[in-house]
Amino acid sequence: MAKILILPGDGIGPEVMAEVRRIADTLAETHGLAFEFEEGNVGGAAIDAEGAPLAEETLQRALNADAVLLGAVGGPKWDSLPFDQKPERALLRLRKELGLFANLRPAIVFDPLADASSLKPELVRGLDLMIVRELTGGVYFGEPRGIEDIGGGQRRAVNTQVYTSEEIRRVAAVAFELARKRGNRVVSTEKANVMETGVLWREEVTALHAESYNDVSLEHMYADNCAMQLVRQPKQFDVIVTDNLFGDMLSDEAAMLTGSLGMLPSASLGAPDAQGRRKAMYEPVHGSAPDIAGQGVANPLATLLSFAMMLRYSFDHGDAADAVEGAVTRVLDRGLRTPDLVQPGTTKVSTREIGDEIRREISKTE
Ligand code: NAD
Ligand code: IPM
Ligand code: MN
Repeated sequence: MAKILILPGDGIGPEVMAEVRRIADTLAETHGLAFEFEEGNVGGAAIDAEGAPLAEETLQRALNADAVLLGAVGGPKWDSLPFDQKPERALLRLRKELGLFANLRPAIVFDPLADASSLKPELVRGLDLMIVRELTGGVYFGEPRGIEDIGGGQRRAVNTQVYTSEEIRRVAAVAFELARKRGNRVVSTEKANVMETGVLWREEVTALHAESYNDVSLEHMYADNCAMQLVRQPKQFDVIVTDNLFGDMLSDEAAMLTGSLGMLPSASLGAPDAQGRRKAMYEPVHGSAPDIAGQGVANPLATLLSFAMMLRYSFDHGDAADAVEGAVTRVLDRGLRTPDLVQPGTTKVSTREIGDEIRREISKTE
């Protein structure tokens, strides 16, 4: 039986994960999903329970699982810890140790939410774009890094942006492959005008495109322009491929096109093994939302849609993923909203209530 490791984490993580677990139980009945779920601690919860943000045993379980589903990590309680002991380190370590170099962050506007975006509805209605973010390299992991005293009461902080040809090519290949199954267009984003990593990025993407993907349309765009174009005319994009830091920022920006950060799922994928299987971790794009944690009002849809991505990418259960996405659409169509999706004329519901309604919709269609 396929083994899924669930790491709820901190803040709203456990609240939204509880709904996903209940919906997974429903899907087990309606779609015959047979998964073995295991749970573990990660982030602040792991610091409190086990003394470190990611226990070795948890890492081993993640390496042995068929897929990992993570809630969120971090929060004010742990913010003053030394850098390498913070909850966020757990996430970075999982990504690195599992080799999850390609982070897929789709931004899809569900029709009933076109008015919930901070942009005019006509700009976002029907939007379906995919950000492919490089996830195990760049300034997040580059050496040297650190903060040092340089005398005279002054300190100096260093981070290093570094990419190799191979790191760029493998994530670009994921973007081109995805584009072929979608709108066949890739925009590659960097700052080749000011950074050598940007120059190499552009050259490698251009070369790979010419060698293997010249049936896909490719455009290069500076990252600052891309950030602007995303709010000017988001529907010009199909697939955006970019580095770790730009991808982090552009995906939060894209989230607001969909109405709420609480709507954006993600899949982080490694390289395929000999049998074509990829290590994978699925997580919402949002964080632990300490400002609303414990109130039962968090939007569970980003985590639920991440679970749907897992069903599709890791287990080839497109039918069950469709059922989840269909149920989400219908619940939104009926005007039910968690408070993050402020819209006049809709009904405010709790995390639990929207979870219940999704279960009901999934059961109805069977
Ligand atoms: P955040 O994503 O947690 O929250 C930003 C804003 O969006 C908040 O107002 C929050 O209430 C709202 N929001 C986020 N998710 C929501 C949801 N599902 N439903 C309703 N509203 C939602 O970002 P932040 O406040 O900058 O960071 C808080 C903590 O989370 C920090 O410790 C940060 O490091 C961590 N973080 C973790 C992850 C992750 O685990 N993948 C991602 C981002 C931030
Ligand atoms: C994300 C988060 C993480 C990142 C943090 C919490 C390490 O913001 O997944 O987008 O910066 O990658
Ligand atoms: Mn982020």
